Amino acid sequence: MDRRGFIRTCGVIAVASFLDARFFSEALANQEGLLKTYNKALLTKEDGSPISEKDILPHKEYIFFYPYASTPCFLLNLGDEVKGAEIKLNDGQVYLWKGGVGTKKSIVAYSAICSHQWSYPTREYAFINYYPPDKASETTKRASVIQCCAHLSVFDPKMGGKVLEGPAEVPLASIVLQEEDGKFYAVGVLGKDQFDAFFENYKTDLRKEYGSSAKAKQLVDKCSVVEVERYVKELIRC
Ligand code: FES
Repeated sequence: MDRRGFIRTCGVIAVASFLDARFFSEALANQEGLLKTYNKALLTKEDGSPISEKDILPHKEYIFFYPYASTPCFLLNLGDEVKGAEIKLNDGQVYLWKGGVGTKKSIVAYSAICSHQWSYPTREYAFINYYPPDKASETTKRASVIQCCAHLSVFDPKMGGKVLEGPAEVPLASIVLQEEDGKFYAVGVLGKDQFDAFFENYKTDLRKEYGSSAKAKQLVDKCSVVEVERYVKELIRC
């Protein structure tokens, strides 16, 4: 490249970076109140060692608990790069979801508490599940989605948990993941989380399972990742 071409290219890159930076800072400013940071929690295998990318198989549904000991989340490797997106809420609020992490940027995580009426995977059953590309839902005929069979809300894990159909009006809250030296950490929650309603509605169940409300609400600094089909006795798909 000649000198003039080089200077022109540098100029284009500088303008693009400036616009990128502006977009990011505006989007970040808008998400005030929608991004909550919690403990930086290492994602581990069941033996307590850090989970690595090769352990997160494409299109398998995994569960872990974050930011509280009792709040379930899905961890998904969607196979291909998942790009970031601007998420608009019905009330006009906007936030920036940064897409996947990992070498292929294909790994995402969401709260597994349905944003409609807080159905969530228990050890006994799970009405809310991920439908991989080769197993479409019988009712909505959609695949590669998270669907809740309680009232048929469908969410798009490639688009920040956006609602595709059903009564839910708010996207699934996403779990902010960070990758450092091949290790994965959960560091926060982005979007409208349902934690208050979840704790209020299920307080009796949570007390029974965790011993007390305080224990159910304990913040975690390590998350054991388990395949959903091993954690839950009955997966209810529809
Ligand atoms: S609780 Fe999930 S769709 Fe109603």
